Amino acid sequence: MRIAVTGGGPGGLYFAALVKQGDPAHEVTLWERNAPGDTFGFGVVLSDETLGGIEDADPVVHRALADGFARWDDIDIHVSGQVFTSGGHGFAATSRARLLGILQDRCRDLGVDLRFGTEAPPVAELACGHDLVVAADGVGSATRTERAEAFRPGLRRHRCRYIWLGTDLHLDAFRFEVLQTEHGVMQLHGYPYSADAGTVIVEMREEVWRRAGFDRMDERQSIAACEKLFADLLAGHPLRGNDSRWIAFTTVRNERWYDGNVVLLGDAAHTAHFSIGSGTKLAMEDALALAAALREHRDQPVATALAAYEAERRPVVESTQRAATASLEWFENLGQYLGQPGWQFAFNLLTRSRRITHDNLRLRDPAYVAAAEAEFAEAGTPPMFTPFRLRGLTLRNRVVVSPMDMYSATDGTPDDFHLVHLGARALGGAGLVMTEMVCVSAEGRITPGCTGMYAPEHEAGWRRITSFVHERSGAAVGLQLGHSGRKGATRLMWEGMDQPLPGEQGWPLVAASPLAYRPGLNQVPEELDADRMRAIRDRFTASARMGAAAGFDLLELHCAHGYLLSGFLSPLTNRRTDGYGGDLPGRLRFPLEVFDAVREVWPEQRPMTVRISATDWAEGGNGVEEAVEIARAFAAHGADAIDVSTGQVTPDERPEYGRSYQTPFADAIRNRLGVPVIAVGAVSSWDDVNSLLLAGRADLVALGRPHLYDPHWTLHAAAEQAYAGPGVDWPVQYRAGSRRPQTGRRL
Ligand SMILES: Cc1cc2nc3c(=O)[nH]c(=O)nc-3n(C[C@H](O)[C@H](O)[C@H](O)COP(=O)(O)OP(=O)(O)OC[C@H]3O[C@@H](n4cnc5c(N)ncnc54)[C@H](O)[C@@H]3O)c2cc1C
Ligand SMILES: Cc1cc2nc3c(=O)[nH]c(=O)nc-3n(C[C@H](O)[C@H](O)[C@H](O)COP(=O)(O)O)c2cc1C
Repeated sequence: MRIAVTGGGPGGLYFAALVKQGDPAHEVTLWERNAPGDTFGFGVVLSDETLGGIEDADPVVHRALADGFARWDDIDIHVSGQVFTSGGHGFAATSRARLLGILQDRCRDLGVDLRFGTEAPPVAELACGHDLVVAADGVGSATRTERAEAFRPGLRRHRCRYIWLGTDLHLDAFRFEVLQTEHGVMQLHGYPYSADAGTVIVEMREEVWRRAGFDRMDERQSIAACEKLFADLLAGHPLRGNDSRWIAFTTVRNERWYDGNVVLLGDAAHTAHFSIGSGTKLAMEDALALAAALREHRDQPVATALAAYEAERRPVVESTQRAATASLEWFENLGQYLGQPGWQFAFNLLTRSRRITHDNLRLRDPAYVAAAEAEFAEAGTPPMFTPFRLRGLTLRNRVVVSPMDMYSATDGTPDDFHLVHLGARALGGAGLVMTEMVCVSAEGRITPGCTGMYAPEHEAGWRRITSFVHERSGAAVGLQLGHSGRKGATRLMWEGMDQPLPGEQGWPLVAASPLAYRPGLNQVPEELDADRMRAIRDRFTASARMGAAAGFDLLELHCAHGYLLSGFLSPLTNRRTDGYGGDLPGRLRFPLEVFDAVREVWPEQRPMTVRISATDWAEGGNGVEEAVEIARAFAAHGADAIDVSTGQVTPDERPEYGRSYQTPFADAIRNRLGVPVIAVGAVSSWDDVNSLLLAGRADLVALGRPHLYDPHWTLHAAAEQAYAGPGVDWPVQYRAGSRRPQTGRRL
């Protein structure tokens, strides 16, 4: 094959060496606009896993690389005059110049035609004259831009500026330094890459960068200013630049990675924020996968190999990008955590990408985790088994059974199904068991199967359930009250979620504005006038009174998921021109009136929470800033905690699903406002629950579907963590099963 490679970074060079090594008959030419000795940046971190991959693929490169690595285990976090050290991490780094030098030598030895100091020819020309064109031309890839229609790139520029510098200071750990300055917070990421050289990245929010005057400084002035700011750390050691500039990190994604015989590799295809140290690793792993795919499909058209390469790499890259985005956003919002105690800030930083967890950290450094646990409650007590107080209610642990509609009631009355369903989950060990959305009127139901609290038999049915929970379990039981608004009169979930009921089975809908959930499919609701709003508010208070009489410990007002009150909060569904629409205070007015009225009749000692959709995941809708303001308003009116969900407000939402994907919203509310939060959504392991709590990203964690999978989720979490304290009690009837079933004979 005739192969053209544009770009002599680690991705391009490593690919060229591997493909030539795999088949010396290939004619491989690489263009690099810089001279061989030029390099930007200083050290790169590679994991043992990447090095293992290199060892298998090319022992020559591995041998040359391996003995020049700086290796270390610790992460030191310097914040508010304190230092927290977590060990056992296992890092290895080397200088980028050395890495490139080794790869260049290897390419030369294998006979790759290296053309340094030469701009690559246009891609159209290369694509005609070669069987394959590998675009490894970095984050600013001209190939990607030229073929944007085929690759469909998405570039997202982020909110911090950073500069990449070098130092001769001997660093013996990954070092994070947080500096509070008159301009705002700045952070330094530092790591060694040889015995006497280290990389230093200084990063801050764009507005802080401007206030500090960095936008008007050249490289030399920036270096001098950074030396002054971080003088304590540097202890007189100078910082060095290498054509260093202040950059805003850009996350690069492409919908396709190849077009005909042209393929993207490394930063040209995807970027991952430097704080998880993966860019070089991803580029080199791409190179390996592409070389392997070409070899495995050598008898097939080149497109087959390119498709196999993309299929193999895309999921790995996307997963790394999700972790990198979480890490990047954590650093962007670092200021919101400065109110946390130092130990918690440090734990939060270590677990920021949601990849490293409480349990991972315990394996790496048990003493570090024990010290953090001791600060939180008691060393050896998993954070999830610590109590939490909301007004007069003390929950025995931090696990909540999230509200889940079962669509199984007749005329709103909860029956044996609801008793067994909620009763089983109360016996299963959670601290708080929430009902599904209980509707304040027949017209406020989502489906004919929804439960209600508007008739005497409803109150009696619910009292039977709360009595069971109180008499037979240590759980508290909460009532979620809501009204369906424009999402009402639909079929049971398993007969068609959000699908309107046929003809006469439906009922007229009301909402903030006369906008159908799905125009042409769902009914157009009638816009509520002041009288009908008052009537609905009164329905909420009547239901709240019945709920108190029925014995519920907590009341949650459902202001999420596009139902009636949520419909008032979102600008996408509230187009009113009276005092109940317009800006956020206007949109909040009716939900707050309902909250106040309910709070008034709900017993003083019993807490109230509010569930919100913290983002609409849609253009022009609410986002995190609005969520913080909505939470602030409800907290000011007496909400004891905010239950932070997202979305389901409009059908054209584009949620960014992923592990615990809604928790950053809960985190922002908790840490910016100091208001307790319930985090929810795609949290499924007890390790994640412990991590969220210890990092101070949530006060309580609600799990929905995991409780459908396993009603005894909390009991099992206790057994798996060998926890036997007061945070959960195995029902006496079940104690014989309180350990994992034995699989063999034991002494
Ligand atoms: C501050 C910072 C810290 C980082 N730290 C780490 C780390 O610790 N660990 C890690 O794994 N990664 C790290 N990275 C990421 C890493 O630098 C990149 O992800 C990696 O270099 C990508 O390799 P690449 O080969 O795809 O692209 P690059 O290394 O960017 O190489 C692209 C090459 O193409 C050349 N080129 C571009 N266009 C043309 C053209 N038209 N003609 C000829 N040549 C061209 C460029 O000159 C360049 O040499 C960091 C990045 C930054 C910004
Ligand atoms: C079957 C089902 C019914 C649900 N019904 C409700 C509900 O009545 N009220 C509510 O606020 N959320 C409801 N939800 C959302 C859950 O409370 C929870 O927020 C969501 O499932 C995400 O958490 P998970 O990933 O742990 O399941 C429901 C979810 C499911 C799966």
